[in-house]
Amino acid sequence: MIDSKHIREQFPILKKWINNKPLVYFDNGATTQKPQVVIDSIVKYYSEQNANIHRGVHTLSREATELFERSRQTVASFISAKSSEIIFTAGTTDGINLIANGSNFPKGSEIIVSQMEHHSNILPWQLWCERNEGKLKVIPINKDGSLQIEKLESLITTKTVLIAMAHVSNTLGVINPVKEIIQRAKAINSKILVLIDGAQSVPHMSVDVKDMNCDFFVFSGHKMYAPTGSGVLFVKENLFNTLKQSKTGGGTIKSVSFEKTEYVDGPLRFEAGTPNIEAVVGLAQACEFMNSLGVKNISAHEHLLLEHAQKELSTISEVEVYANHSNKAAVISFNVKGQHPFDVGTLLDKYGIAVRTGHHCTQPLMSYYGIQGTVRASFAIYNTKEEIDIFIEALKKTIKLLN
Ligand SMILES: Cc1ncc(COP(=O)(O)O)c(C=O)c1O
Repeated sequence: MIDSKHIREQFPILKKWINNKPLVYFDNGATTQKPQVVIDSIVKYYSEQNANIHRGVHTLSREATELFERSRQTVASFISAKSSEIIFTAGTTDGINLIANGSNFPKGSEIIVSQMEHHSNILPWQLWCERNEGKLKVIPINKDGSLQIEKLESLITTKTVLIAMAHVSNTLGVINPVKEIIQRAKAINSKILVLIDGAQSVPHMSVDVKDMNCDFFVFSGHKMYAPTGSGVLFVKENLFNTLKQSKTGGGTIKSVSFEKTEYVDGPLRFEAGTPNIEAVVGLAQACEFMNSLGVKNISAHEHLLLEHAQKELSTISEVEVYANHSNKAAVISFNVKGQHPFDVGTLLDKYGIAVRTGHHCTQPLMSYYGIQGTVRASFAIYNTKEEIDIFIEALKKTIKLLN
């Protein structure tokens, strides 16, 4: 059972007032707020532990290295991976680019994405296809936001090398049946690789990359209570040697000479230069924070919020909600009929309510619905039913003002 009052006390920013109203922060899909334990872990790192890692013999450097590598273990076990399968990145976008630039797919290969992808999971593949005479194919969706997975088999050919898709849609909140898709794709050709974009799943639900059987899995720290600039790329252990490095430099090598350089195996091969150490430490702390609450409890609490918000929104006739799907994470996209989402978002801000407006980096999805953008409310563990009630009241007033 989640004690909202106790949880909210752990997030200093939630005490803030905006436009003379208590902040109601519903922009968690963009980034979450940070609990005191995460903030403290960064302060502690710089006050007591700061040194460069991996190459020092002095005590502080060894301690910082141990902390960094312990963080790798914590983050790995958070998604049921081994620490030898975790590459630290700057975030989801960075991880996807690392695979797109490091893959050894033959020229003319085909890559499959879905209609609901974030631009970060389209553009790297589009660029790869442009540069390599490849072909980008798209799994279509239905109006309720579900994927037309019955089309999957017809999209796969002998040239298909990769399926790259979101676990949870950042715009619709729809949870995709990724395990089933992986099973079906690999049943046709076990060599097809699958990359899952977990930017919007890891913050809301338990993720087990082994059970899912994906080849690559990416997510961002800042969407799950951790610092910006932290992120994770999971790579199945047997695939490390198939990846080219897109960046090299200090920390990646066994030996260097002008004639020949030998690189280390595993994650460090892909972590060139000094990493964002304090952000990684903060990311491990965020995993521990989520573990201490119980990820299942987080999901259950957010689901109650989602149901309440959906029920309340359905009573407002001027509101159109996108993707009336039964399996959703705590994200709702809607529009007020005849009104621009920016106007709705701007007026909600006057009531202290932070929502995101626009295309949410999913323009192909917007095109599918024939709209420019939506208003998106996305919830996190510290949000409450009372905040949803405040939001609904403010939305009703906003609609009156606009009409
Ligand atoms: C589904 C999804 N993928 C990728 C990204 C990009 O994440 P980042 O900007 O942290 O790299 C986002 C961010 O909103 C997202 O929601």
